[in-house]
Amino acid sequence: MHASQLFDLSGEVALVTGASSGLGERFAEVLAAHGASVAVAARRAERLASLVERISDVGGKACAVELDVSDQGAIAGAFDAAEAAFGTATILVNNAGVAGNKAVFDVTPEDWRKVMSVNLDGVWFAAQEAARRMKDAGRQGNIINIASVLSFRAARTVAAYAASKGAVLQLTRNLALEFARYDVRVNAIAPGYILTEINKDYFESDDSAPMIKRIPQRRIGDVSDLDGTLLLLASNKASGYMTGSTVVVDGGHLLPVD
Ligand SMILES: NC(=O)c1ccc[n+]([C@@H]2O[C@H](COP(=O)([O-])OP(=O)(O)OC[C@H]3O[C@@H](n4cnc5c(N)ncnc54)[C@H](OP(=O)(O)O)[C@@H]3O)[C@@H](O)[C@H]2O)c1
Repeated sequence: MHASQLFDLSGEVALVTGASSGLGERFAEVLAAHGASVAVAARRAERLASLVERISDVGGKACAVELDVSDQGAIAGAFDAAEAAFGTATILVNNAGVAGNKAVFDVTPEDWRKVMSVNLDGVWFAAQEAARRMKDAGRQGNIINIASVLSFRAARTVAAYAASKGAVLQLTRNLALEFARYDVRVNAIAPGYILTEINKDYFESDDSAPMIKRIPQRRIGDVSDLDGTLLLLASNKASGYMTGSTVVVDGGHLLPVD
């Protein structure tokens, strides 16, 4: 099959959480450019509106859905809105996430809850809702969770974030196991450091130089570095026999060094 067919997402409906900036914004644009209708979800409505306009301007289909993924009661309504616009969501990109860098003794119960409620609870409830709807509609579907290199490695000041992303990795495997019988695939992307608003201050300061030096490719990633992996996982034609996988895209960051 030619690549243009292999990655053709026409007829698919994607819901991307955290689509108001960074990776999520890029994911929405890439999915729309390959034919999917895309519901872009996040809290900042004005940024979603301008993303919808940009996608529409280049001939894509998108709608904005205001959503706080940590609000469990709001998840079903977001899927309803996507469904009303385009039909059952057949692709969910569980991308919304927050960092919250602090040394362990400085992390308050509220800090911990915030990270867990967005990065883990949000992923859980959205995946549950998406898969239930795919199953009820009898539609083949797939869920792409955004993990991190911190699903695998430890680093200072990110214990809560790393714990949440470690859990996303295990959730990916366990949901894949349970949803396989319904023809719903669940995979994850574990990005290394990609320049976005979540880490802009750090990577634009000199403090980041030693970190960049430790990356074998000697650079941090660009949002476009994830395009191919996203399309691979989103397309049932390209990755129909992949489920429970986590694809690391990190410039070699996780490679052991001696
Ligand atoms: N950049 C990296 O180096 C990197 C590496 C590994 C993994 N990741 C992961 O990639 C994902 C995207 O991060 P990013 O780098 O693109 O960061 P970002 O630019 O800060 O984007 C985070 C997105 O999450 C949304 N969000 C935050 N809290 C939310 C909530 N309660 N409900 C709904 N949406 C919420 C934000 O939208 P609103 O504020 O409008 O709600 C925003 O669109 C995260 O899961 C992050 O952990 C990033």
